[in-house]
Amino acid sequence: MKSIVITGSSSGIGKATAKYFAEKGWKVAATMRKPEKETELGNLDNISLYQLDVTDQASIDAAASQIISDFGSVDVVLNNAGYGLIGPFEAATDEQIRYQFDVNVFGLMAVTKAFLPHFRANKAGMFLNVSSIGGLITFPLISLYHSTKWAVEGFSESLAYELGELGIQVKLIEPGGVATDFGGRSMVLAMDENLPDYNEMVAKMQAAMGSTGGGSTAEFLAEGIYAATTDGKKQMRYIIGPDAEQTWAMRQQAGDDQFIAGMRQRMLG
Ligand SMILES: NC(=O)c1ccc[n+]([C@@H]2O[C@H](COP(=O)([O-])OP(=O)(O)OC[C@H]3O[C@@H](n4cnc5c(N)ncnc54)[C@H](OP(=O)(O)O)[C@@H]3O)[C@@H](O)[C@H]2O)c1
Repeated sequence: MKSIVITGSSSGIGKATAKYFAEKGWKVAATMRKPEKETELGNLDNISLYQLDVTDQASIDAAASQIISDFGSVDVVLNNAGYGLIGPFEAATDEQIRYQFDVNVFGLMAVTKAFLPHFRANKAGMFLNVSSIGGLITFPLISLYHSTKWAVEGFSESLAYELGELGIQVKLIEPGGVATDFGGRSMVLAMDENLPDYNEMVAKMQAAMGSTGGGSTAEFLAEGIYAATTDGKKQMRYIIGPDAEQTWAMRQQAGDDQFIAGMRQRMLG
């Protein structure tokens, strides 16, 4: 039986993916910050819950060694946990900026490091890192979230070379908009009332964002992640969702400068 470890399994893409893999007969380690609050996943066949906060090294080490001991072998790690810090860069506190990187970048790296010795010993394994179409293009006023996802892109792409030599794969998942808790409790808006210069831009951006569609379902993402895991391809990036595909096609056709001018016009014009 194949096995997968998923971070951020309490909701959204992580939860839907845990269920999808379990239904396909995989053993799933659904990790989350507060497993005691999870009422659904723990009752499903093939799913075990583990406590893991990606910003807490002790919890990462404890979960990794417990999962490897319980499962015997792990095949795939899905680095999914993440949230979005948005708003004007100048309005974000140093603490907010650091925590955004702690979760989305350093947390992902720490989880990767925790499972690497196991994958190296097995000469096999796959890291699937959840980035975003926002790891390949940008929207205005999201510089901090984007910078974490662009970091995940560079980290994953370069890491894939060295781990590829050891029989370990790294792949990137690039969702477009997905209807999860991401736009609600997982989005932090940095605002500072002493910086009114940004107010009009923020209002325009919020209006433009509000008029875009709801995006894909978390279940659609789970299917795409399963396909990326099992397709046997040496493919680096999986752009998942019609909106993400369209945006990426536009970026490639228009080139950087024309795309950026169009985005400025659409969001702030
Ligand atoms: N939804 C979208 O439109 C979209 C688009 C592109 C990329 N993504 C990416 O997809 C991933 C999953 O997001 P989602 O859309 O499924 O949103 P979500 O439903 O809000 O799920 C976010 C998950 O991350 C977890 N998390 C946050 N901080 C954590 C920490 N320190 N340690 C462990 N887990 C932590 C949350 O756990 P708690 O319940 O404990 O808070 C939750 O399980 C993120 O990396 C996000 O950047 C989402």
